[in-house]
Amino acid sequence: MWLTEKFGVSVPVVGAPMAHVSGGRLTAAISAAGGLGMLGAGSAVSADWIRTEGAVAAAGGRPYGVGLMAWSVQDRPEHLDAVLELKPALVSLSFGDYAPYVGRLQKEGIVVAMQAGTVADAREAIDSGVDLIVARGAEAGGHGRNAVATLPLLQAILDLTDLPVMAAGGISGPRGLAAVLAAGAVGGWIGTAFLTCAEAMTPEPVLRRVIEADETDTVYGTVFDAASRAGWPDEFGGRALRNAFFDTWEGHEEELKTKDDAHADYLEGVRTADPARTSIYAGQGVGALTSRSTAAEVLGSFAAYRTYLQAAVEQ
Ligand SMILES: Cc1cc2nc3c(=O)[nH]c(=O)nc-3n(C[C@H](O)[C@H](O)[C@H](O)COP(=O)(O)O)c2cc1C
Repeated sequence: MWLTEKFGVSVPVVGAPMAHVSGGRLTAAISAAGGLGMLGAGSAVSADWIRTEGAVAAAGGRPYGVGLMAWSVQDRPEHLDAVLELKPALVSLSFGDYAPYVGRLQKEGIVVAMQAGTVADAREAIDSGVDLIVARGAEAGGHGRNAVATLPLLQAILDLTDLPVMAAGGISGPRGLAAVLAAGAVGGWIGTAFLTCAEAMTPEPVLRRVIEADETDTVYGTVFDAASRAGWPDEFGGRALRNAFFDTWEGHEEELKTKDDAHADYLEGVRTADPARTSIYAGQGVGALTSRSTAAEVLGSFAAYRTYLQAAVEQ
């Protein structure tokens, strides 16, 4: 198993980088439980945040990863410098012009991954020399493309390359993990399933909303980016839970970008973790989340993938 050889994991699961959710604690807990945890470095964090949380992630002595957004590294090269100091086992660079940074990371012995939302994205990633491609389907939580669903994208990228490929988007339990492994992926790159973990940074009101939500409650768009003014390129929207703020502004994103009162309203919603106003990024697999958990419990449940693979073979 490629992930086991590279990172010593016992369950073929990478805990996807999730800004505002996967800090050092969740990252360390996923790695300790047999997967590979990843720190989600949002565009607004300081380089010191990356250093501090990276140290927490590393403290358990297990390999871990860091996820950076390429468009944000362009504005904040200190994010890349902090990661180069930490030397995590894996770094993902996605969303923007990441090619200039691939070689610098690899020179330090870091495995570099890129999240592709189309076959064209995957071709570019291959040309830029990355080590691992993540086929990230439209049903995934957080930012990315809304172009192709996980299964058709995964099959097309597996047909395209001999590089290791992981699957991301909608893997909510061991059945989904078994499905992508059977197709030829080296593992699942999984975010949403960890949202209700005790080790995550998810605030309490958001956690309750996530548990309530079903698989039809997500929306894709740029409303929250227009409100946050964080600097996301329009090309990458995000999948999040539908709420009143989204419904008010959907279709009026350009106007929203100029509205100071709506910007302030959104920031207040984030500060108070108000589910009606804040962005709650989650994928369609959110429907499977019905309770609080720990990273060890989530990893333990994914480890049952072998049962489903075996049952498929015996059919
Ligand atoms: C709350 C949340 C935050 C995310 N933040 C990031 C991020 O900071 N960097 C990144 O590369 N991907 C981010 N993602 C995307 C994940 O890396 C991954 O593609 C996705 O979670 C996989 O789909 P799933 O949520 O259906 O498991 C985020 C996803 C979620 C749900």
